[in-house]
Order: sequence, then C-alpha cells, then structure tokens
Amino acid sequence: MHIHKPRCSVTDSLNSGKKFTPKTLEDDCDNTDAFLPAADATEVEKQKGCKTLYVGIGLMVFSAVIVVTTVLLVRHFHTRREVQLKKFYIGSMSLANQRFVDAYDNPDSQEFKELGQQVSQKLKAMYFKMKYLEDYFVGSTVQAFSEGNGGSEDTVVAYYLSEFDVPIGLESEVEASLTSMDPMEGGQQGRMGRISKGSEFSSSLLINNIMCGALDPRMTKAKNASQTYTYHISKTPTGTIESPGFPNSPYPPNTYLEWRLLAERGHRVQLEFESFNLEDDCQEDFVMVYDSLVPLEQRVITEKCGLYSRKEPLSFVSSGNVMLLMLVTNEKKSFPGFRARFSQVPLQSQDCGGKLTGLTGTFKSPNYPSCYPPLVKCVWNIEVPAGMSIRVKFNKLFIPETSKNSCLKDYVEVNNEKICGINRDITVITIPDHTTVVNFNSDMSYVDSGFTADFEAFLPTDPCPGKIACANNLCISSLLKCNGWNDCRDNSDEKNCTCSSDQIHCGNGLCQPKLWLCDKVNDCGDNSDEKNCDNCPLGQFSCRNGGCVSDKLKCDGRVDCLDGSDESKCPRTVVLPCSGYTYMCKNMQCISKLNPECDGDEDCEDGSDEASCQCGKQPYRHSRIVGGQGSEEGEWPWQVSLQRRGSEHICGASIISDRWLVTAAHCVQDDEDVQYSKPYVWEAQLGLLVQGQFNKWTVKKNLKQIIQHIGYNRDSYDNDIALMELDTPVTLNQNIWPICLPSATHDFPAGKEVWITGWGDTRESGFAAQLLQKAAVRIINSTVCEALMTGRTTSNMMCAGVLQGGVDACQGDSGGPLSSIEASGNIFLAGVVSWGDGCARRNKPGIYTRVTKYREWIRQNTGV
Ligand code: ARG
Repeated sequence: MHIHKPRCSVTDSLNSGKKFTPKTLEDDCDNTDAFLPAADATEVEKQKGCKTLYVGIGLMVFSAVIVVTTVLLVRHFHTRREVQLKKFYIGSMSLANQRFVDAYDNPDSQEFKELGQQVSQKLKAMYFKMKYLEDYFVGSTVQAFSEGNGGSEDTVVAYYLSEFDVPIGLESEVEASLTSMDPMEGGQQGRMGRISKGSEFSSSLLINNIMCGALDPRMTKAKNASQTYTYHISKTPTGTIESPGFPNSPYPPNTYLEWRLLAERGHRVQLEFESFNLEDDCQEDFVMVYDSLVPLEQRVITEKCGLYSRKEPLSFVSSGNVMLLMLVTNEKKSFPGFRARFSQVPLQSQDCGGKLTGLTGTFKSPNYPSCYPPLVKCVWNIEVPAGMSIRVKFNKLFIPETSKNSCLKDYVEVNNEKICGINRDITVITIPDHTTVVNFNSDMSYVDSGFTADFEAFLPTDPCPGKIACANNLCISSLLKCNGWNDCRDNSDEKNCTCSSDQIHCGNGLCQPKLWLCDKVNDCGDNSDEKNCDNCPLGQFSCRNGGCVSDKLKCDGRVDCLDGSDESKCPRTVVLPCSGYTYMCKNMQCISKLNPECDGDEDCEDGSDEASCQCGKQPYRHSRIVGGQGSEEGEWPWQVSLQRRGSEHICGASIISDRWLVTAAHCVQDDEDVQYSKPYVWEAQLGLLVQGQFNKWTVKKNLKQIIQHIGYNRDSYDNDIALMELDTPVTLNQNIWPICLPSATHDFPAGKEVWITGWGDTRESGFAAQLLQKAAVRIINSTVCEALMTGRTTSNMMCAGVLQGGVDACQGDSGGPLSSIEASGNIFLAGVVSWGDGCARRNKPGIYTRVTKYREWIRQNTGV
C-alpha cells in the first residue's frame, strides 16, 4: 500500500516556490518568532551584519543580495530550527459532472492518472489559500475513484492522501484548517471555468463535497506487509473475506490489509462477520469498517477487536456504494482472525419508515438487530382512530450517544423528544393526538443495532383500562400501588403512599420494608435508609469491626482501626498483623488492601496477589441483545453439568483447575436408591451449553474421587460443599476454563451484583432448562437474610437474590456457581448454589455456600 511512503506528483513537488515571496517571509518570521527558542535572534543579527559588507555596491545588486540572504535565512530557519512532524491526512471529494469510466478502477490507466493529477492540483490550489496549509504542504496522491451513488447527476468520488510537514505545536491548527475546508472557497473559481469550457480534462473541477481527517496513527505502524484488495460486487455478487491463514493459522504480525468493496450504483455494500477472534486490546490488533474507500476518521462505521460469539449479529451496511474493511496487527500475539461475507443490497430494500395505522403495531430501525446504516433518515407516520391518543413504547434501544443524554449523534425522535442510549429502561411516550410522527436519524459514523418499538391507541378518558398509569405512562395493575416495590420502574407507583408501621419512610417519600434499614443496600434510591447507620459521629470513619477513628486517619499509611480497615480501600497498601480483614500473600505477609487479587496492581512484595489471574475470564464479548435469559456459548466456561451416568442432569458444578470441580455436598449425598457419593455414578459434562448438544468444545469426563465436606449437615445444609477430581486432566479451551477462587478474606459486599447460572427448573415445580440459563441477583446483607429465612442461615452461607421475587436459582441448579465479576474483569466463585424456600418467591433469597470460608480446605484437598 502507498500509505507509508506517499509519492508526490511532479506538479506537487513545486510546493516551496511560494514561500519566498516577501509576504510569506513575513509570515514565516512571525511564525518562527512564536515557537523558536530565543537563540534565533542572534542568528538573525549575524545575517543582518553581513549586509554591511555590501554597502556601496549598486542598488540593484544590493537588493538582489537582500533577497538571496533572506532566502538562505528562511531555509536556515526551516532546516535547523523547526522540528517537524510528518502528518498524513486522508480525504474524499465528490467531483460533480464527471462520468465514471471503468478505467478509473485501474491506477495505471491514462484516465486515472489524468484525473488524479487534476485532483492533486485542485487540492494544492485549495491548500494554498488556507492559513497554515500552504506552508507545510508536501504533496498529495489520489488513492482511488468510485462512482457516485446519487440521483441522475454524474459524480465521481476521489479519495486522496495528503502529506504535510507540520512544526511541532501547530498540529491542531493544521488539522482545523483541513477539516474546515470548504469546496466553495479556496480554488472553486473553476466552477465557472468548468462550465464555460466544458472540456473533459479541464484543470478546474467542480467539487461538491470534501472531507478530510488525520490518518489514525495506529495505521502507520505496520511495517511488514501492507496490501489492498479490491472487490467489485457487481462482478462477484457475494464473496468471503478472510484474514490471512484463517481458520487454520493465526494472522501474521505487523500487517496492514485493506479490502475495498464496491457495489453497483444504486446499491449498498453489506458485510457480515461469520467468525471473529482478534486480540482483546484494540490498541494492538483491530478491524475497522469505513463508509468510504479510504480510512477517513469521520466515516468509521465500527472498530472491533476481541472475540465475538457467532450468535451476535456482527453485520454492517454502507450508506453509499463503497465500504472499506481494514485489518491492522502488531508484532505481539496473533489470533485466528475473521471471516466475513460481503454482498450488495439495493438502496430501496433498506427503506424504512412509512404509514402505520390500526390500534397497535410495531416498527424498528433498519436491519435490527444488525446495525443500521450510517446516514439514514426514517419517518413513520402513525395514525390511530380519531378521538384516541397514541402511546409509543421502545423495548430495545442500542443507539450510541457521544455525550450524556444529548443525543447529538444518532437518535429516534417522537413528539419532539429525542431518545438515544444503550439498553435504557423501557421508554414510553404518550401523544395526546391521533396522529404522530416518529423520526430516526443516524449520522455518518459509528452505528449500532438501533431499536424496536410498538405503539397502541388508547382513549384519553381511560388511558389504562382496568389498570393504573405510571408517571412514565406505563400501565400496571392497581394492586401494585404502594406495595414497597418499584413496579413502574420510575417509582411513581410508590410515591404519595402512607407508610405502615413496618415500613421505613424514605427521604424521597417512598416506603420500604423496615428490615432493609441499614442493610448496606440503597433501597430507597436516595440512600436515606442507609444514612445514620454508623455508630460513629460526624467526621469519623467507621471501621469494619465497628470502631470509630477520625476521618483524617483514613489512608494515611498507618493502621488506626484495630482491623486495619481504615487502610483497606486505599491506593497504597500497608503490611499489617494478619486478621480477617487483611489479605495474606504467599510469603505469609498480610496487607491492608481489600480484594487485591488480580486487580492489576502488585500489592504483595512477592507479587503473589497477581500471580494466577488467568482464571475467571469469559472468552467472548457478550452480546447485549439476548432474548430472555439464555446464555451464550463460552459465557460461563466454568459451568459443569453433573449427570447421573446414562441418565439426566442432576446438579451443577464449577471448574477450578484442569482436574478439580467444586459442587454442593447435598448433590453427592447417597439416598435409598443411588450412591451419589461414589465417583462412578457420575459423568461431568464440560463446555456444554445446551443439554444433549455436543460439539468440538464439549468434553465428558469420569470422576476419580469425590470429597464431601466432613462438616456437611443434611438438616441445616451447613458446609454444603464438595470437591470432585476428574479421572484425567481436561484440556482447557475457550469453553472450558476455571473460575477464580476468592481468598479467605475476600469481601463480597451486600448489594453487589452477582450471576447465577444453571440448567435447573425455570420455575418452582417446573421443568429443567435445556439452554444454560443466567440471571443477575444481588448479595443480601446477612442480618436481613437471617430475618427473612427465620434464623436458618449460618455464617458459612451467603444470601443472594432479588427480593421482589421472580429471579432465583431452583431445583437442578445446586452445586453450580454464584459468579462475581470483580473490578479487574476476572470472575470469582462467590458461592455454590445450596438451598432456598421454593424458588423466586418474594422476600425469599437463594442461599449459597460461602466459598471464602473454604479457601484453605480447598487448597489442602486439591492443591489449587
Ligand atoms: N437444592 C436445590 C438443588 O438441589 C437448589 C435450590 C436452590 N433454591 C433456591 N431457591 N435458590 O438443585
């Protein structure tokens, strides 16, 4: 590719001529004054001194020498003083009244060269009228042409690369000049010339549109191979693009590859990734898709790296008839790469909007759940019977926003209200009229899935027949008013209630169960149920063990609370006497930092807190578009299905190493019929997603031994934990991977979100799931839990759930993980599914074995 060494055309290399006119000289001097060191003044003086040698010589000669001296001086400045950066800018311009000819596809053709030269000249003329640009311009090359996609008028789009040598410190000025360039200024006098001359190769072009941006610095790094492939989709209607070596070998390092995709006039390019597996960090290896033939920063459709599961629709469409796909890799690790399929779709087939009538209906952004194209405008006209009003409800919303709540980029607009964002709660808008207009607009870059919405008609006299209306216009059952639960999602059903004696009066007027006072969860929403819970006076820090110390002593590097908790959430850690509130490093030193494992900082002197952090990683970036609560392949790679040999799924378990699983003790409890404590009864299925569906990632294993906790109590379920050893080690893969074990003092605070997964029943007394299910629950304060479970919990248990009900583990989930995603991104085994009162009942959390209590026991029995 030509990006690394752009060639200037012959005409362009004349760029310096203009610098030496007196006017430019002044400009240059001004400029240099501004950013050269003071030492320059002496240089100037010296040169001035030389002039005196010529006193007495004829006036003509004298002035000639002045000019020569000045020229030398300026050269001197430029070569010795200015530290310049090479900057590349990439751009595109539409050339009106130009007919596209096939020869423009071939850079070696005479036609390409001629038009290319005209474009370069045009650019030069434009730059020379702009401040900053004329001085630092080096040259331009035309990279490609494409046929315009517009209406009847002929247009050709030219793509170019311009090179500038910019003095350090002036980069932003140059960039501002370039990006603000207006085709109607700088050199557009050709407009008249072009029309009057009418010649095919007039030196003046009529430019409709110009856009220019800096080349992404990551793209100039690839040193090894750079290559451009071009596909004309009219000739190959669909085709595939693979990264080199895919899928058998990893892509090569230090590569820069471009695939230019050109559709026929009146079409769009469609690109669908079938497989995608790159390095996780987009600074290292990445794929870009552009709505242009060149990597123009304003026209990025998407930037991707990492791993995507096949379920996630990774599919893009261009706004016009061109698209650029790019792969950039560096010298570090290589991954399998990608395969994508391209095709063209007629412009009209992507049409959106239209008239919607009737009492209800649905509509969505173009291509949903695949990405909408850039530059779309959709208009839906909704009309319901006269006399009725309209309610529009957005169910799914994936519209990227640049700054908070401003919807400046892409948005959907109803009744003058702009809506954007990712996965916000259901948005409902009511329109007090029987007609309304919904608009959807996307700008020229960064697309996403868009939205799905429905509308319904209602009578203004009775907006929620048989129900009550929330402030956000949702309709809910009247039984849900003032019940302590946020059923409306905007809390409006819980406002203006009279709290009963067993409820807290929240500061914001809500009522919440008394039980939730001081449980470390913000139940009121304004935190008023968690205020004044510490016994310490104002200005004092409350230690985790209950003591109080002055606020000033927090994080001062010295231990003031007896348990060291004043130093536990600080950037710096201190070595302390070991206790339940410290973390023990491998060298037996104890440090004050809370949960230091795998947080990216080496807190232990021996580095042991960061030593084994490969555990607990989900290999895929997971789709946000998940229907219901089904998991995706590889989402919970430590999840195991324990099956009775030759029979069905019974319990879950978690992989903690290539040889060991953790499960619940009650799963391996013998009964009258089966000796579940015996290894040969079981078969462990690893890497499984759907019951009974095996693939190249799934593995079935026999067990060598089962270690049930000796303290397991079959009545109280205390110590409900067991270990299973596989008969041979399993080869770990992207769907079989161990979860991290928390240290004995790891803190999972009340209110933290954790995940439950399993193939257990999907409702109380229901049926088992085929597809691995997942759900988010929250850790519940143990005092609250103890009260809710009427004293049946012990300190070896931990409660988690959604107290509104409706989300919980159930029969068949036992032994499976309670997974906690920690700040580092590593996932830790917080609990093992143990027991509950029924499933998902209101105010009945799920009870889990508290894994931190068994860290040492696991180490002793397994060495993990
Ligand atoms: N004991 C059950 C089993 O064997 C798990 C129950 C979990 N129940 C709950 N509501 N969280 O599968």
